Amino acid sequence: MLLIFMSIQLVVQVSETTLAPPKNIHVNGGLLTWTPATEETQVNYTVQYRSFDDKVWKNVPACVHSSFNSCNFTEAESTNGCMTLRVQAERHGLTSRPVEACSKHGDSCTPEVSLSARPGSLTVYVNISPSLVQDHGGHAKHRVYFGKEGESLERNYQDGASSVSIHDLEQGQRYCIKVQYLLYTDITGTASCIQCEVIPESEKTKPTEVIVAVVAVFSMAILIPVIAYILIFHRKKIKLWLQPPYNIPDHFFDIPRPSHQLSYSSNEDCNIIMIADVREK
Ligand SMILES: *[C@@H]1O[C@H](CO)[C@@H](O)[C@H](O)[C@H]1NC(C)=O
Ligand SMILES: *[C@@H]1O[C@H](CO)[C@@H](O)[C@H](O)[C@H]1NC(C)=O
Repeated sequence: MLLIFMSIQLVVQVSETTLAPPKNIHVNGGLLTWTPATEETQVNYTVQYRSFDDKVWKNVPACVHSSFNSCNFTEAESTNGCMTLRVQAERHGLTSRPVEACSKHGDSCTPEVSLSARPGSLTVYVNISPSLVQDHGGHAKHRVYFGKEGESLERNYQDGASSVSIHDLEQGQRYCIKVQYLLYTDITGTASCIQCEVIPESEKTKPTEVIVAVVAVFSMAILIPVIAYILIFHRKKIKLWLQPPYNIPDHFFDIPRPSHQLSYSSNEDCNIIMIADVREK
């Protein structure tokens, strides 16, 4: 009982000391927008940036402890070049976990991404900004982070110049990706927003279908030589079998007895022939 009470106390304390981070943090042009995680008022936000050769996060001067839900970072970008941005919420000395922004549109700091899923693989097509290629040539690439839906995307990645194909993916499983520009060995700019795709299943042949096919092939393999053998070596027999049976027409035996009394004269044979003749007419 005491243990339950203590754990409830602990949960209450944890939720009090942490602040939910903002959601839907999107970059569009030079403007960063987000939605508050809670209905609570009196929450301030601080936006931080990191340029590509920087290892530390710095505050965007115009957006420190701001009560707005947006930040115009045009000025900071004009002096720093492409930046990775993140936002954290603050209230009464508490700060939330910082969350990185993403961009739904491609620009000079974010790759434009499209996806194509095939059984077992996912191909990511990236439009690299012409200005980036102009400034850095072959050193401008992109990094595709990928993982199953719900898993962290930071663990697996693959670098490429225009398209990246990720192989050996589980069929029927939903995979997600995000892409960020890579200059030399450093990621730079804002990542593309996460996109997910279900890996389609290949047209699997069912075991019963396989069995039916094998049986059909075997029967054909046996039947064809047998038929050929019969046709070649037993042609005469077949001809005999195929001949219609010799049927003597019934009426042949059905010689009507003369209704009238014939006189058994010396020319009896002659009389019978005459009757048969009449029937034919
Ligand atoms: C951001 O600020 C710049 C000046 O620093 C201004 O030219 C631009 O219109 C602003 N953008 C937005 C979306 O308010
Ligand atoms: C938000 O920031 C302003 C200063 O810009 C400050 O006066 C205010 O106390 C802050 N509010 C909270 C809840 O921290």
